[in-house]
Amino acid sequence: MNNLLISCIIIVFWIPSGCRAKYRIPNLEFEVFKPSGLKVSLPAETGVELFAFHAKVNQPILQIEPGDISQDVKKSVNGKFTYFNPDVMLQKGDVLNYWVFVQHNRFGYRKDEQIWIVNEISSNNETQDSVLKDLCIGNTIGNYTFKENFIDAKTWLIEEYIPGDPDWQFNIYKNSPDIIEVKNGVLHIKPKLQLENARIDLNLTKNCTRHGKECSRSYLSIWNPPIVSGQLRSVQSFCFANVTIKAKLPIGDYVYPEIYLEDVSNPRRRILIAFSRGNMNYERNGVDEGGKRLLGGPYINMKKPDKISGNSALRSYSSREHIGTYWHVFHMSWTPVELKLYIDDLLYGEYDSETLQREGFNKNLLMKLVIGIAAGGPYEFPDQYTSSGIKKPYNLSRDAIKQFVNNQDLWKNTWSADTQLQVEYVYINAV
Ligand SMILES: *[C@@H]1O[C@H](CO)[C@@H](O)[C@H](O)[C@H]1NC(C)=O
Ligand SMILES: *[C@@H]1O[C@H](CO)[C@@H](O)[C@H](O)[C@H]1NC(C)=O
Ligand SMILES: *[C@@H]1O[C@H](CO)[C@@H](O)[C@H](O)[C@H]1NC(C)=O
Ligand SMILES: *[C@@H]1O[C@H](CO)[C@@H](O)[C@H](O)[C@H]1NC(C)=O
Ligand SMILES: *[C@@H]1O[C@H](CO)[C@@H](O)[C@H](O)[C@H]1NC(C)=O
Ligand SMILES: *[C@@H]1O[C@H](CO)[C@@H](O)[C@H](O)[C@H]1NC(C)=O
Repeated sequence: MNNLLISCIIIVFWIPSGCRAKYRIPNLEFEVFKPSGLKVSLPAETGVELFAFHAKVNQPILQIEPGDISQDVKKSVNGKFTYFNPDVMLQKGDVLNYWVFVQHNRFGYRKDEQIWIVNEISSNNETQDSVLKDLCIGNTIGNYTFKENFIDAKTWLIEEYIPGDPDWQFNIYKNSPDIIEVKNGVLHIKPKLQLENARIDLNLTKNCTRHGKECSRSYLSIWNPPIVSGQLRSVQSFCFANVTIKAKLPIGDYVYPEIYLEDVSNPRRRILIAFSRGNMNYERNGVDEGGKRLLGGPYINMKKPDKISGNSALRSYSSREHIGTYWHVFHMSWTPVELKLYIDDLLYGEYDSETLQREGFNKNLLMKLVIGIAAGGPYEFPDQYTSSGIKKPYNLSRDAIKQFVNNQDLWKNTWSADTQLQVEYVYINAV
């Protein structure tokens, strides 16, 4: 989103004022749903290429501030560019302070300091589902490889940010050639230690793909992330789909692959396609939850990734060797009535329609595919485990990163050339 901010500032400043009279941003259409949901549309007049909506509820919004509600819409559906967020809860009388950016024939136009007051709430939530359905259909999805030895910016956003909620990883994400590289048709994401980052102020400046706290963080008593890693995010969003990824997962203590679908409107709502801890083993009471175990499935309770039992639990596949020892094809097939998980054509997990419904994964959700690698964090590595007999080098406390850094001798030497995520292809098919 910040990319857009930068680009709009540049675009706006570069336009000779004479060019700007040709297009005027028309009035937007608003619709608010009960119990939640906000839809904002812009007529898709000829030449409109992008619609960006930025708003805050009952609070002023600064001119270029992204706001709490913020999204770029690059595709028109049914003659409109539509922003839709099913999770925004609004009441009669709430005030939306917003600004709009529209790219029209490659020129940028803005409308600042706008206000809209909620005067009507639609209780027809079937409309809502049909809004999403429309947004889902026709999204360009397809087969992506890295054969051309570059990362196509039309397909992938290469993230740069300092992650916080909900994962609190011990890494930041940077788009730098020593971290993210495409070689011989394979994408490599290789995290590196940059221990000095832990005790300095971090500021990603202009290259940051997020905003606010995700772009700069001061060094306080809580240390900053000491690892630099990489993450891609699909530019397109899509709903129900088959996703197939050929990848080699990372091996190395306290790293994990991020291969999941993430709900555009709620980053906690995910479907894990392939998760396995980098640790060779990760044991407690004789149970090994390390990298010989692959996990996948709907994921909404970050704090208890594999502690949920019953129908909603993540599904798992166990191997004799670390999953990252070999290349595998991970496949997920997700429809409104079932979700299936495969490794190398072997079905290892299924969710039925009742479970999907209970967890809210039976309806249209706009998802983006995330591919990356992360380290540490409070939830992915539960306390009281040992890794190859060595006690976990940090615990769930304010000092977690400090402990992780100070105990680096307990994990650092497990990192090797295999401590990377490699991806050969990604196929996304609508179902
Ligand atoms: C639609 O509204 C009804 C009644 O308010 C509610 O029970 C139901 O969960 C809603 N459905 C969705 C998909 O939000
Ligand atoms: C993607 O690849 C799969 C497997 O090779 C093939 O079945 C499918 O038709 C391809 N889809 C597109 C859009 O090229
Ligand atoms: C980050 O760096 C930029 C450019 O030097 C500066 O404008 C900005 O104020 C810095 N942000 C913080 C929070 O220090
Ligand atoms: C931002 O990205 C550019 C181009 O990749 C690079 O040259 C520059 O060093 C980056 N700036 C920072 C602060 O990382
Ligand atoms: C975490 O570890 C520190 C240092 O070993 C210890 O003092 C603290 O009590 C632990 N906290 C928890 C919540 O286990
Ligand atoms: C999606 O995947 C399932 C399970 O592998 C398969 O049966 C189905 O044919 C696939 N559908 C499409 C459109 O690729």
